Amino acid sequence: TVAADGSGDPDSPGLTVVHGASELVVGPDEGVGVETVADAAFAAEDGQVVAVGETEEVLREYPAENADVAVDADGRLVTPGFVDPHTHAIFAGDRTDEFEAKLGGTSYEDILAAGGGILRTVRAVRAADEATLTANLVEHLDVMLAHGTTTVEVKSGYGLSTDAELKLLRAIAAADEAHPVTVVPTFMGAHAVPEDREVEGYTEEVIEEQLPAVADQGIAEFCDVFCERGVFDAEQSRRILAAGLEASLTPKVHADEFADVGATGVAADVGAASADHLLKTDDEGADRLVDGGVTPVLLPATAFALGEEYADARRFLDGGTPVALATDFNPNCYARSMGFVVTLACVGMRATPDEALRGATHTAARAIDRTDGTGTLRPGAPADAVVHDVTAGVEIPYNLDVNTADRVVVDGEVVHE
Ligand code: NIG
Ligand code: FE
Repeated sequence: TVAADGSGDPDSPGLTVVHGASELVVGPDEGVGVETVADAAFAAEDGQVVAVGETEEVLREYPAENADVAVDADGRLVTPGFVDPHTHAIFAGDRTDEFEAKLGGTSYEDILAAGGGILRTVRAVRAADEATLTANLVEHLDVMLAHGTTTVEVKSGYGLSTDAELKLLRAIAAADEAHPVTVVPTFMGAHAVPEDREVEGYTEEVIEEQLPAVADQGIAEFCDVFCERGVFDAEQSRRILAAGLEASLTPKVHADEFADVGATGVAADVGAASADHLLKTDDEGADRLVDGGVTPVLLPATAFALGEEYADARRFLDGGTPVALATDFNPNCYARSMGFVVTLACVGMRATPDEALRGATHTAARAIDRTDGTGTLRPGAPADAVVHDVTAGVEIPYNLDVNTADRVVVDGEVVHE
């Protein structure tokens, strides 16, 4: 075995070669789709891609016999690991009965207004200890990894007090440490207004108390706000995100999920990394995002679960703007599989399989400001990849219900098979 860098680091994966792919999704193409290579392979040194191309060529320079980790894709599809850029994956408690109520016709907003929904999860999270929250998240990360996700954004937001939000963010950090999936932490103290509080006073608490505490601990990268009818209005959202920016947290916005209250304008003005949901966005709102360089993040599983109309993905794609896809995994949208989301993007939103695969990899990475090549297998990118049990990209959405992910590689090491 040849140690690629000769450093002798026992944790270093050295040389990784994944070869024999029928098709390999390399990264974005010139348009809004992906570039693929047939009969392909990639090589990585110490977890970073160094070569990608036809198997014959790659193996000439990086023979599989010399590799510390050699994966024979055996004529199957290889993609970059999925990136899931919007989840609320850390929580406690159970809301399955709300699923039944919604099937019976009760609306999400009515459940929230009656103290259920997010507020119910908040009660369960406040009562849970940190280790339980970490263990809950790790369990979900296991499922995500088995479905090919290698990077996931996780939001706090079920604490709604300084202590409980910090508890969630510490639990997120602990899960990241304990698990091969890369976890990107977002502070979302402005996820809902706590019971027995009014929105103005709580907005001030988020700005004056929660944000400084989070910034002081350095345990979040983004600040997100539920800018929505009956939650935080555009002006409150703008203040919170501006304060987040002051504290070095990049803004993100939950925009136009149930009503258009001006969230896309806020996202563009504060320079948000992403605006997410966009179910009720009109053409002007969409233009504001495109002009502002804000990545649209579409969450078709949420629309599916709520029985709502899907976001208008084609409006962006036809204009040459790629869209990111995410699960939005939370107790209201119990979806952890990006493969399922890719299916919904194609069938429900008429994205092409290539556009959807780009949305689940490279554009998803952009939505969380990962510019190191995450979501691609180009030289320099982290060696995060999935060998799927199919031969072509189209078969990911084509398989409506079966997980295509077989072997998963993170930082050049096989972490799931
Ligand atoms: O993105 N819309 C706000 N937040 C989540 C739902 C969270 C919950 O219902 O617990 C979302 O859909
Ligand atoms: Fe969300």
